[in-house]
Amino acid sequence: MTTIENGSEKRELAGKRALVTGGSRGIGAAVVRQLLDAGAEVLTTARSASSTVPEGAAFVTADVRTRAGAKAIAAAAQEVLGGVDILVHNAGGAQPYKGASAIPDEEWQEALDLNYLASVRLDSLLVPGMQDRGSGVIVHVSSAAVLAPAGPFLHYTAAKAALENYSRGLSLELAPHGIRVNTVTPGRTATPGGEATREQWARLDLAPGRTNADDTTPLGRDGRPDDIAHAVLFLVSDRASWLTGSNLVVDGGEFPRG
Ligand SMILES: NC(=O)c1ccc[n+]([C@@H]2O[C@H](COP(=O)([O-])OP(=O)(O)OC[C@H]3O[C@@H](n4cnc5c(N)ncnc54)[C@H](OP(=O)(O)O)[C@@H]3O)[C@@H](O)[C@H]2O)c1
Repeated sequence: MTTIENGSEKRELAGKRALVTGGSRGIGAAVVRQLLDAGAEVLTTARSASSTVPEGAAFVTADVRTRAGAKAIAAAAQEVLGGVDILVHNAGGAQPYKGASAIPDEEWQEALDLNYLASVRLDSLLVPGMQDRGSGVIVHVSSAAVLAPAGPFLHYTAAKAALENYSRGLSLELAPHGIRVNTVTPGRTATPGGEATREQWARLDLAPGRTNADDTTPLGRDGRPDDIAHAVLFLVSDRASWLTGSNLVVDGGEFPRG
């Protein structure tokens, strides 16, 4: 959103410093583009550099699954941005298995590291700076799969469910410090990661009725990365200044909830 102040154009997030994990493609890249369009300065991350990192964003290579990765990202945020006003935890995902008991131990740990503990670790490094400044906004990206947990993805949905619970609890702890914390929960969205996962799922050869890899949503289409990014941008803007601890489900009506 652009407003005119004293005859000159002011972009909504001008002067804000934003960090987005997993911004090299898919939902994360759309969030980065929309933040840049809104005037924010943006640093994004992924395990590998790619030509699809939006132009205009600074980029750091790091694996969010490890404490060392979180530390590298926090150090880059300090060096490049000088602090973080907007923190979007987007990196996530998991590969499906034939059922809960087929998920190897190390995949449970990996799903927890990527989809839950990555946020906990990075928040613990960046929240103190927000507390010092008395302001900040955090968005955790969950998944509508939490609302219909299924065997092939239980490692993923259990980790995202933990993330949602953590996000809500953190919002209560940080509200007195002027920091808002919310969750965005996407439904099936057309991204490189989402498409690859659904293809793997369809190939698992599950019994009829045990996969919805081919379904669509009540609104008749899958989500686009920008559909999810619009929700993130709203939550990080001052238009959402009285919203904390919320979970915005953006899923084309597939899993309606209040
Ligand atoms: N697409 C959907 O249908 C859907 C539905 C519900 C929820 N979501 C959630 O939305 C978020 C984004 O999903 P997406 O579909 O846009 O995924 P995507 O297309 O696979 O993109 C994921 C991004 O995260 C990065 N990433 C993955 N693992 C990482 C790691 N260990 N360390 C650092 N960066 C990592 C990837 O880059 P590198 O691979 O180079 O590291 C990439 O930039 C995820 O949290 C996902 O769970 C997606």
